[in-house]
Amino acid sequence: MGRTLGALIVLLFAMKSFAGPPDASIEQRVDAVLSRMTLDEKLGQMSQSTSLATPLSDPMKEEIRRGRWGSFLNAGSPADRAEAQRIARSESRLKIPLLFGRDVVHGYRTIFPIPLGQAASWDPALIEQAARTAAREASAEGIRWTFAPMLDIARDPRWGRIAESPGEDPYIAGIVGAAMVRGFQSASLRDPSAIASCLKHFAGYGGAEAGRDYNPVWLPEGLLRDVYLPPFRVSLAAGAVSVMTAFNTLNGVPATGNPFLLRQILRGEWKFDGVVVSDYEAISNMVAHGYAANDREAASEALRAGVDMEMVSTSYHDHLKSLIASGDLPMKLVDEAVRNILRLKLRLGLFDGPVSPVAQAVVTTESRELAHRLATESAVLLKNEGHLLPLADSVRSVAVIGPLADSPIDQMGSWAMDGRPEYVNTPLAAIRQMLGSGRVFYASGLQNSRSTDTSGFAAALEVARRANVILLFLGEEEILSGEARSRAFLDLPGAQEALTSEIARSGKPVVAIIQAGRPLTFHKTEAQVGAVLWAWHPGIMGGPAIADLLFGRAIPSGKLTVTFPRTVGQVPIYYAHLNTGRPPAINELGIPVGTPAEPTGYTSKYIDVDFTPEYPFGFGLSYIDFAYSNIRLSATTLREAGVLTVSADITNRGRLPGVEVVQFYVHPVAASVAQPIRLLKGFRRVPLQPGETQTVTFTITARDLAFYNQQMQLVSEPGRYQVWIAPDSVRGIESEFTMLRQRQ
Ligand code: NOJ
Repeated sequence: MGRTLGALIVLLFAMKSFAGPPDASIEQRVDAVLSRMTLDEKLGQMSQSTSLATPLSDPMKEEIRRGRWGSFLNAGSPADRAEAQRIARSESRLKIPLLFGRDVVHGYRTIFPIPLGQAASWDPALIEQAARTAAREASAEGIRWTFAPMLDIARDPRWGRIAESPGEDPYIAGIVGAAMVRGFQSASLRDPSAIASCLKHFAGYGGAEAGRDYNPVWLPEGLLRDVYLPPFRVSLAAGAVSVMTAFNTLNGVPATGNPFLLRQILRGEWKFDGVVVSDYEAISNMVAHGYAANDREAASEALRAGVDMEMVSTSYHDHLKSLIASGDLPMKLVDEAVRNILRLKLRLGLFDGPVSPVAQAVVTTESRELAHRLATESAVLLKNEGHLLPLADSVRSVAVIGPLADSPIDQMGSWAMDGRPEYVNTPLAAIRQMLGSGRVFYASGLQNSRSTDTSGFAAALEVARRANVILLFLGEEEILSGEARSRAFLDLPGAQEALTSEIARSGKPVVAIIQAGRPLTFHKTEAQVGAVLWAWHPGIMGGPAIADLLFGRAIPSGKLTVTFPRTVGQVPIYYAHLNTGRPPAINELGIPVGTPAEPTGYTSKYIDVDFTPEYPFGFGLSYIDFAYSNIRLSATTLREAGVLTVSADITNRGRLPGVEVVQFYVHPVAASVAQPIRLLKGFRRVPLQPGETQTVTFTITARDLAFYNQQMQLVSEPGRYQVWIAPDSVRGIESEFTMLRQRQ
């Protein structure tokens, strides 16, 4: 209690929108248009369709003239979109422009690594540039709204959508999200190459029970506010102008009909004045959820909760008119929604200037270079026994084996609908280009990642025997990750493990390069190879990036933003967990034999598998050994308005230049709500020449230490805090400070 009394209640700053304080001229124009709209026209603005077929049909042209739709998603060719926009802007009664949205998730034509891979670069500047490139390409083809970034905290690799998320940690997720928002939206939304971002899925979607997509989510409010919401808040502060609701129920209430999320938190506490769009048919899905008796009720619940635009289903169009006529819903709610939509269209400058001419998104030398860099920085080296990597130029020949060595579509990953296989540079092509075809022997071994047909093994083994080193390309095909692709087993699918065993029989050194949309459990494979490079689905330039890393033209620097379990039975497993009252001791790493007769046996562990993960959050090797030393604090105490700095020296002990992702973690030793054993509070990418030492400094204030207490107040509490400057979430050098009781 005393502790709580001394706590500092952290006041939240009122949320500033991207466009700054409300723009009076925009608000006047919103009012002027709104005052002239009929109810049908208002409902049209609130409706988003996906049926802008090519070629544009006459009935659809007529619907656009009548203002039946305010927005289209994932529909039409660039020419159709331009023509539809021309009709809306010049032939509809009020000349309200259409807004074309699309899932531009990790690139448009230039496909970058999947978001989980991008996050592993820990390079927000590069991520921002990738989003900028995607926006330029998408806007050239008439898209001004992307349904990204996806900011769902994901702690369960069974969930296929973990591929689209920045991972398990709210701090890094917020930084990645904000970088993407800045990239998509440019310095001004009126820039014709800017596209509005849409933060999704609000909220809790990544917490799907059992990792099964769309499943219910149960989250206590404190966990929701401390972990699941911060990435949204940070990305809104970076200027995001729209938010998509989630498919799931949150504590029994669908997110799409959830006034607590949408009215209390998003609009009330955060002062959001952008657009809330439902997810795909998520309004009518509330009937299946068992929350609304029918579509009419669903429409009513969604509008009451604050959903401005309905994606694909038509319950707003079909029922709001009669709900208003009967007095069940006030017109005010419709007007609010339309106001938000018009505001977004005005912010984007859609009402003004000529309709953009049709252009083509093209992959350029610059966009390829960017994709190459991001794929290089995203890859994570997980194992490198005996310094097998980098391979020496003197390696006479390599065998390239495996179903993902030359698979352009899979390499792009999920949500790459505007990517084109002809732009993809695969590992096989890149390695051939680097070494010359005569030194590269290729056999896929398996037709695809799921194949159990072992008839290609003999050819693969033959190829393996001819080469000095084997490069084994394993993983998951694109169709195994993403939406609705939950998996109950996390092993390498098909006969890939068997292929590895077969190849290992050659006795040659084997490097496994794994392309996947999620963490996998691949222990048996790992044990049979000398090195593992985790490449995610790396995008169109994954091939050259992988080749560079294998042959030392680039040095690995990526680190995981998600924990890799040893087995699916450990899931959910994440670094920022609570300690339990009986934490296992670190020397209990093995599987205990006999009965746990000793009291020390009664600890929070498994009796059949090590309790630690296969690879922890933040982990990633390099070809360089980095040393951490000399942690020091600017003071041992922190006051209410004070700032404390924590520094350490990082040394490159290797013979190559490289980059180390240095991480900063904090742990409050005792708090009124038990806190995770570590929390990430900062990081830096530190470039270091051989032998060079740099001092890295992190600052910490009371605000950075805040969490939600039992009364749901955001507080920073006095007491002892451990800090680490660390290469990952389990190692590092440690110190501590004390936050003083207020007015002490
Ligand atoms: C459903 C997905 O959940 C969402 O993320 C996506 O933006 C929409 N479909 C539109 O494709």
